[in-house]
Amino acid sequence: MRSVLVLNGPNLGRLGSREPDIYGSVSYADLVELLDSTGAELGLSVETRQTDSEAELIGWLHGAVDAGTDVVLNPAAFTHYSYALRDAAAMLTKGGLRLIEVHLSNPHAREEFRHTSVISGVATGVIAGFGVNSYVLALRQLAS
Ligand code: DQA
Repeated sequence: MRSVLVLNGPNLGRLGSREPDIYGSVSYADLVELLDSTGAELGLSVETRQTDSEAELIGWLHGAVDAGTDVVLNPAAFTHYSYALRDAAAMLTKGGLRLIEVHLSNPHAREEFRHTSVISGVATGVIAGFGVNSYVLALRQLAS
């Protein structure tokens, strides 16, 4: 069975209670369950992780490179300024692995600082604005 890592950056562990008008009322635990069941349906082995630490997120991307694992990444606020995360993401896609950048909200419809993603330029593709369904769509793409 093909493996996929779903990685989530800072504050996404608070999903459900954090600005539900923007991010929805599905909790992080519910998201993990949804991705597990979507993976089972698609024949993917899905592991979902969240961290508030940039270093930990980069370490997980290095691990994905070493293991040859495709990644769904919601970099959260790191999206907008972390060149270190971008460089780690580039190792995946330049090495022939796929990395799909996802967002619950549509950052382009929000504050100006969210309009820039330093990750998109090295991602395989970007899915944004569909709530937790952004992740489901990314898994479907990786399964296809
Ligand atoms: C986000 C959008 C980012 O701008 C924000 O910092 C997040 C979540 C999203 O999923 O919509 O934390 O990545």
